[in-house]
Order: sequence, then C-alpha cells, then structure tokens
Amino acid sequence: MTESTTEPVRQDLDPTGPATASSPVTSFPQDRNCPYHPPAGYAPLRTGRPLSRITLFDGRPVWAVTGHDLARRLLADPRLSTDRTHRDFPVMTERLANLQQRRVALLGVDDPEHNTQRRMLIPSFSLKRIGGLRPRIQETVDRLLDAMERQGPPAELVSAFALPVPSMVICALLGVPYADHDFFEECSRRLLCGPGAADVERARDELEEYLGALVDRKRTDPGDGLLDELIHRDHPDGPIDREQLISFAVILLVAGHETTANMISLGTFTLLRHPEQLAALRAGETTTAVVVEELLRFLSIAEGLQRLAAEDIDVAGVTIRKGEGVVFATSLINRDGDVFAQPETLDWDRSARHHLAFGFGIHQCLGQNLARAELDIALRTLFERLPDLRLAVPAQEIPHKPGDTIQGLVELPVAW
Ligand code: HEM
Repeated sequence: MTESTTEPVRQDLDPTGPATASSPVTSFPQDRNCPYHPPAGYAPLRTGRPLSRITLFDGRPVWAVTGHDLARRLLADPRLSTDRTHRDFPVMTERLANLQQRRVALLGVDDPEHNTQRRMLIPSFSLKRIGGLRPRIQETVDRLLDAMERQGPPAELVSAFALPVPSMVICALLGVPYADHDFFEECSRRLLCGPGAADVERARDELEEYLGALVDRKRTDPGDGLLDELIHRDHPDGPIDREQLISFAVILLVAGHETTANMISLGTFTLLRHPEQLAALRAGETTTAVVVEELLRFLSIAEGLQRLAAEDIDVAGVTIRKGEGVVFATSLINRDGDVFAQPETLDWDRSARHHLAFGFGIHQCLGQNLARAELDIALRTLFERLPDLRLAVPAQEIPHKPGDTIQGLVELPVAW
C-alpha cells in the first residue's frame, strides 16, 4: 500500500480474454491487499471486462459482471432473481450457506412481492424525511466528538465514532432502544462476519428473538419509530404480520449501521492517506457531498452483489443459462475506465454520482439518502473539529476486513 493517489494496480496476471462458459476462472471474493483498492488478484477480471467466469468458495463457477453498462442492464433485468432460498442461488461463503432457507425481506424477494414490501417502507426514507433527521444526526455526531475530545487522544475511531453514529441513528429511526446496542451490534457482526456457519445461524436466531419481543411490546406500548408506524399505521393490504415486521427490522437494523460505519472509518482512513485531496476539502475547494459520492465509488464497500438467472439471458456475446449464478463485482464496475476517467484516482472533480455503490434497479439501496446524510455530517464535522487528525499507528498495521464481507476497517487508531 502506498500514499500515491494514482497507485498502480497490478495488471500483470494472465488475462482470461473474452468470457465463455469454459473460460479459466478467478476465485471470488478475495481479500483486498489495500483496504481501498480491489484485490490485486482480480486483475484477470479487469482485463475480461465486462463479463468473466469466477469460482466461489465451493468451487462453483458463476459469472462475474465487471462492466458498468452491462451491470446496469443486468441489475434492471427481471430475469435475474434475488430469491436467496432457491437451492441454486450463488452463496458467497460457507457461513451463509446455512442461512439459505431463511427469508430475507426486500433483498431476498422478487417482484411483485418486492414492490409491495418496498412501498411500505419507502416514505420513511424519502429525502424530505431524512432531511428532517439531519439535526438529530448532527447532535449525535457532536456528542460523540465531545466525548472523544474529553477523553483526549489517542482514540479508536471505529468504536468511538464510526459505529455509534449510524447505530444511534438507525435505533432512533426504527424505535429500537440504543441501550441494547452492544447486543445487536454483536449479532450483526456475527451475522455478516461470524467465525462459522452455526454461529451465523445463532446470531440470526438471537436477533429475530430480540426483535420479535420488541415488536410484541410495541403492539401494546407504542413508541414513535418506524417499527411503531408499521405496526399501527393502516395499510391498504391489511396489517403487516409479525414475521414480516421482524424481517423488516432485521434487514434495516443490520444494513443500517454496518455499511455506513464501514464507510465512515474507511472514508476517514482513505482521506488521511490522500493528503492532497484532504487539503482540497479543508480549503473548501469542494464540498463534503462531492467527497462522499467519490468515496462511495472509490471504496465500493458492498462487493459482490448476487443474483440467479431465472431464464436464459443472451448478453455480451454469451448465454447466461437459467440456473447459473451472476455476481456483480462493484469495486471493478465502479472503476470501469469507459465511464470514469482515471478510475484508480480519488478525484473530487469527476462526476461520480452514477457509481453503483448502492446497487441499481429495483433493489437499489433503500437507505441511500440516510447513508449520504450520515456520511456528509460525520466526515465534515470530524475534519472540522479535529483539524490535526492523523493515524496513530503506521497504515500497514491497521487491520481491514476479509473479502467475503462488507469491506472496511476492523480498527482505526487515530490521534490529533
Ligand atoms: C454507505 C452505506 C450503504 C451502502 C454502501 C449500501 C449498499 C447497498 C447495496 C449495494 C444494496 C443493493 C444490494 C443488491 O442489489 O444486491 C443495498 C440495498 C439495501 N440497503 Fe443499503 N447500503 C448502505 C446503507 C444503508 C442504510 C443506512 C440502510 C437502512 C437504513 C440500508 C438499507 C438497505 C436495504 C433495505 C436494501 C434492500 C433494498 C431492496 O431490496 O429493495 N442501506 N444497499
């Protein structure tokens, strides 16, 4: 890993050439060598753009989409299913294979059911509603930074700031007591990154049990969060059943804090490793909103979106056969040189807004307005209040997450 803003990415592995069903395959996912660049081992996938063959952990060959244009086309194609309970659905890790029979709200559901579910939640994530949350997000950020300053340097930024910001905000939004955050943060961590399949399943059971009890309490003792609204609001199709409420709560709670937390810590690290770009931000030559968009593109923390072909699909000169898996390598899609000039460079002057860090099509991130607001407020306030913020240990010593989960840092020791 180097400080360079135009760090060369290894391109010296054998290219696979145009993809065919019998092309040589690259294993996927792989661990990043540098926390903000795609793994060097993905070089054959870069040369094979827009489509290559990869093998998953169990040796299963599937298609990897790496081109931006093709990704948009396929993510909007209803012939690709997200039904995770299907036995042929491509699973990225052994840990998650056991959860395959479990129902995942929204992300695991195809239209028309997906549309019904999404319509129930969409008003709560509109720009207007999220705009109304901004003062509360600012207050949360300020309080956490007050505590960090009181304590004095050094600090571990993931636990002191990056995780509590989205965790407190999603709790307030949903109406989940933040006092229980140690419990559900631990469950989320095990669910996304647990040591083994049994542990992942236990984490999901524990989280469902906890949220089930919360839903039951809210029926008789309503509060003012989104869960309360879903329980007590009149819905055109009748009341939402308990199982559905729990599955909404699980996905919103887990997706609502892990992802944003990783963006805050990895975004901070990336800025500290790119002093010129950070100086431009500090000098007011760009806005935090622009910085957030480019960081979303550059970091692509949600790597490897998965789909299953429900029918034969002819694309890019090949036929993706019914029953085959398709994986979207977002880190490579967001560095497609046909769409983003000098894609390996962190550049505030580009228009990054059409990145696919939040996905595309009907499953495009429901929480993106919230994530943008949190990142904008968290990063702006952090660098304003701590102008001398720096890494407290050499960059190489900072541990990052393995390739088979949401990308980010395990810890981020800082001083100021
Ligand atoms: C920077 C932070 C975030 C990133 C990078 C991110 C990324 C993504 C991506 C890539 C998808 C699409 C997955 C696919 O198509 O397979 C997605 C979907 C989703 N995200 Fe996010 N997300 C973030 C924050 C959030 C937040 C804060 C929430 C909730 C409060 C949230 C809730 C969801 C939900 C519910 C879906 C499923 C939507 C559907 O299937 O209709 N996300 N997210």
